[in-house]
Amino acid sequence: MGNTRFIMSLMVAMLLPNLVVSFSTRTKTNIHTDQAALLALKARVVSDPYNLLTNWSTATSVCNWVGVTCGSRHRRVTALNLTDMNLFGSVPPHMGNLSFLSWLDLTNNDFRGLLPVQLSNLHRLKFISMFKNSFSGEISSWFGYFPKLQHLYLSFNNFTGQIPMALSNCKEIEIIAMDSNAIEGDLPKEMGNLTKLQSLDLQDNLIQGQIPAEMFDHLPRLQGLYLDMNRFHGGIPMSLFKCKELRNLSLSFNRLEGILPKEIRNLTMLGTLRLNHNLIEGEIPRQVRDLVNLEFLSIGSNMLEGQLLPSITNLTRLRYLDLTNNSLTGRIPSDMCDGLSRLQELYLGMNRFSGKIPTELFMCQELLNISLAFNSLEGISSKQIGNLTVLRRLSLYGNLIQGPIPKQIGNLLNLELLRLGNNSLTGPILPFIGNLTSLIYLDLSDNYLTGTIFLSTKLELY
Ligand SMILES: *[C@@H]1O[C@H](CO)[C@@H](O)[C@H](O)[C@H]1NC(C)=O
Ligand SMILES: *[C@@H]1O[C@H](CO)[C@@H](O)[C@H](O)[C@H]1NC(C)=O
Ligand SMILES: *[C@@H]1O[C@H](CO)[C@@H](O)[C@H](O)[C@H]1NC(C)=O
Ligand SMILES: *[C@@H]1O[C@H](CO)[C@@H](O)[C@H](O)[C@H]1NC(C)=O
Ligand SMILES: *[C@@H]1O[C@H](CO)[C@@H](O)[C@H](O)[C@H]1NC(C)=O
Ligand SMILES: *[C@@H]1O[C@H](CO)[C@@H](O)[C@H](O)[C@H]1NC(C)=O
Ligand SMILES: *[C@@H]1O[C@H](CO)[C@@H](O)[C@H](O)[C@H]1NC(C)=O
Ligand SMILES: *[C@@H]1O[C@H](CO)[C@@H](O)[C@H](O)[C@H]1NC(C)=O
Ligand SMILES: *[C@@H]1O[C@H](CO)[C@@H](O)[C@H](O)[C@H]1NC(C)=O
Ligand SMILES: *[C@@H]1O[C@H](CO)[C@@H](O)[C@H](O)[C@H]1NC(C)=O
Ligand SMILES: *[C@@H]1O[C@H](CO)[C@@H](O)[C@H](O)[C@H]1NC(C)=O
Ligand SMILES: *[C@@H]1O[C@H](CO)[C@@H](O)[C@H](O)[C@H]1NC(C)=O
Repeated sequence: MGNTRFIMSLMVAMLLPNLVVSFSTRTKTNIHTDQAALLALKARVVSDPYNLLTNWSTATSVCNWVGVTCGSRHRRVTALNLTDMNLFGSVPPHMGNLSFLSWLDLTNNDFRGLLPVQLSNLHRLKFISMFKNSFSGEISSWFGYFPKLQHLYLSFNNFTGQIPMALSNCKEIEIIAMDSNAIEGDLPKEMGNLTKLQSLDLQDNLIQGQIPAEMFDHLPRLQGLYLDMNRFHGGIPMSLFKCKELRNLSLSFNRLEGILPKEIRNLTMLGTLRLNHNLIEGEIPRQVRDLVNLEFLSIGSNMLEGQLLPSITNLTRLRYLDLTNNSLTGRIPSDMCDGLSRLQELYLGMNRFSGKIPTELFMCQELLNISLAFNSLEGISSKQIGNLTVLRRLSLYGNLIQGPIPKQIGNLLNLELLRLGNNSLTGPILPFIGNLTSLIYLDLSDNYLTGTIFLSTKLELY
């Protein structure tokens, strides 16, 4: 009977070659094994500019070594924290012998090469960070062997290959960060089984295909989703709107298409919504007004059309609004600043807005940057514009603005950039320009202005 079981497990081991590792290293380990493992790591460190590892001397217990923490009961190494030590080297297979390790933090060093498969023996690991190193190779399927893993940071390395489906075995996982690597292939829908997931960051990789439709059906705790700068196409899956805890949603720089559905209103906790540089079409749904916690909204460089609805003013926490490079039409709502009193950056350029620039726009007292360039706007209110005393950048380039340059612009003492070119401005170029001591970029080209201005040396004129 016992024999049969032995043969059975041998067969299982043969069928699942990855498991062989776990079997073969199941020797008794102790604090001396831990010491040997750490000395093996030290031997693989070729550069240690702050001489931190000279502290790793056999004269003292490993538990006193810098970066090493031992458990109080077993006196075995439970945590290794080598953050910010500027170490250059590689990780030896012996690390897989640190069998009590629950915390492995190599953040911000220059470790290279492959991660040894022996690491998969570290079943107690709750925290792994390889953040900001130069590791390469695939993220192996043995990453699925960490039943207690909660935080996995592999960002800013040179990892390649696909996201292993086996990762969905790490049922305790809360944070996955694999951004800024060269990961490719599809996003496995099995990731949707990680029901404790709070944050998934896959930004800046080469991941392709559609975002799986059912991916978000069972991720009720998701707060952060970052898929920007990949190669996703297809629509935004409807299941995403079940994630009512979402605070940060970033899908920019992909090829996502379809409309922005009205179910967006379910994401009432959203603080940041980035969808810029995709192929999203249709109108901005009026349900956007329900996202009352929104501080940052960027839907620039899509194919949106229709009007900018006055209800946008209900987003009273908004600090950043970018709708650049769409096909929006109609007027800019005149009561924008009644609600958007905290607005600091407003980008509405490269659309088809028409009519006058509403006077009230210049009552958003905290505005730092405004671009309304490349629209069909006509007038500019002369009085109120002087209220924007903190304004640094103002571009009204490429509109249909007539009349003289309002002299109140002379009050905008923090102005660094002023682009009024390619309009129909008339009258003299006023001497006030000399008052704007912060100005470094001035564009008055292609108007009907007369006179000359004296330029300070740092000013670039266009
Ligand atoms: C290593 O550093 C730790 C803490 O910084 C210190 O307690 C210990 O004495 C040092 N050991 C050696 C051998 O220098
Ligand atoms: C790891 O080490 C760094 C730098 O010494 C320190 O700032 C950080 O708090 C440590 N992390 C933990 C969990 O102790
Ligand atoms: C530790 O790991 C290494 C490499 O995986 C192995 O050669 C060694 O026998 C292991 N055991 C001990 C007690 O160091
Ligand atoms: C990692 O990738 C970057 C950019 O692709 C490259 O410059 C660097 O040489 C690579 N490093 C290693 C260790 O492969
Ligand atoms: C995901 O979970 C469902 C049920 O919750 C299960 O049927 C399915 O097999 C799981 N898939 C994976 C790959 O774990
Ligand atoms: C959301 O973004 C903010 C600001 O960038 C950041 O402080 C916060 O940690 C993020 N939250 C999540 C859940 O990722
Ligand atoms: C949005 O929320 C409503 C009300 O809570 C719910 O009935 C609906 O199913 C949700 N929609 C999605 C796509 O989750
Ligand atoms: C405008 O948006 C389109 C479609 O997303 C994009 O191809 C183009 O590069 C964008 N132009 C600018 C100047 O960003
Ligand atoms: C906008 O906010 C006002 C209160 O400031 C409220 O009366 C109105 O119902 C809100 N409108 C929408 C469309 O939510
Ligand atoms: C803007 O400036 C004008 C004239 O300087 C002033 O009457 C008005 O109250 C200011 N508006 C705000 C909102 O501060
Ligand atoms: C906004 O203005 C600041 C200050 O001039 C500048 O540093 C920043 O790049 C501007 N942002 C954009 C998106 O133009
Ligand atoms: C320019 O500044 C001077 C004093 O620094 C002030 O008297 C004058 O009114 C300003 N001109 C304009 C047009 O703001």
